[in-house]
Amino acid sequence: MDLPPEDDLIRLNKLLATLGVESRRHAEEMIIAGRITVDGVTATEKGQKVRRGAVIKVDGVEVGPPPPPAWLALHKPKGYVSTKEDTRDRPIVMDLLPPELSHVHSIGRLDGDVSGLLLFTNQGELTHRLAHPSYGVEKVYHAATRRRFSEDAARRLAHGVDLNDGPTAPAKCRVVGREGSGSLVELIIHEGRKHQVKRMFEAVGYPLAELRRVAVGPVSLGDLERGRWRHLTDAEVDELYRMAGLPRPCRE
Ligand code: URA
Repeated sequence: MDLPPEDDLIRLNKLLATLGVESRRHAEEMIIAGRITVDGVTATEKGQKVRRGAVIKVDGVEVGPPPPPAWLALHKPKGYVSTKEDTRDRPIVMDLLPPELSHVHSIGRLDGDVSGLLLFTNQGELTHRLAHPSYGVEKVYHAATRRRFSEDAARRLAHGVDLNDGPTAPAKCRVVGREGSGSLVELIIHEGRKHQVKRMFEAVGYPLAELRRVAVGPVSLGDLERGRWRHLTDAEVDELYRMAGLPRPCRE
């Protein structure tokens, strides 16, 4: 059999990246797990060279060129879970996005009983970096406490509290209003541990009645209606890439 010229060959993991498989590591894991076929033959080596035009399938499904980059903001209502699927059949945030955007994933998560701003993209490295505390992306939460919140508790949250998975980093915390018999408290953190804000308030003796995220880095919830989504503006996308230390890809 004639072999194609060397120029027409490309490493499989690189080709998978151009086909939109999110990270090289993910691609390698799939190759090792025997989930990838090249022209009908199961791939065995991550560095193997394949024809540029080879038919690549993941779990038997052909992968095509990646969809264009997308960046969105959703006003997540309470009652929706932030996963792509739910085994318990609860409403999922993807139900709130149109089918042509089914390739995006959320940047981080919000608990089912938490509302507010959730960002989405199909850009894996951006997601990874924005979710990592070292990039310092601030998340602004408005928390309603059941009773009046004290200045001392605000100082303790700002200083950092001990949680069962370690102390929290310094934060910004201030009372911004009253909410029934409790207070409305703004907390700004750049970490994103599981149930972190609820656990921080519990640690200072104020279990929350409500929690909403109102901003992530340069993106604010603004007057986006509950359950609605919008594309991020160019300025917002630019700023997210600047914070992540990455060059920005084009929209198309
Ligand atoms: N902190 C929480 O406790 N829950 C969230 O969903 C987000 C931050």
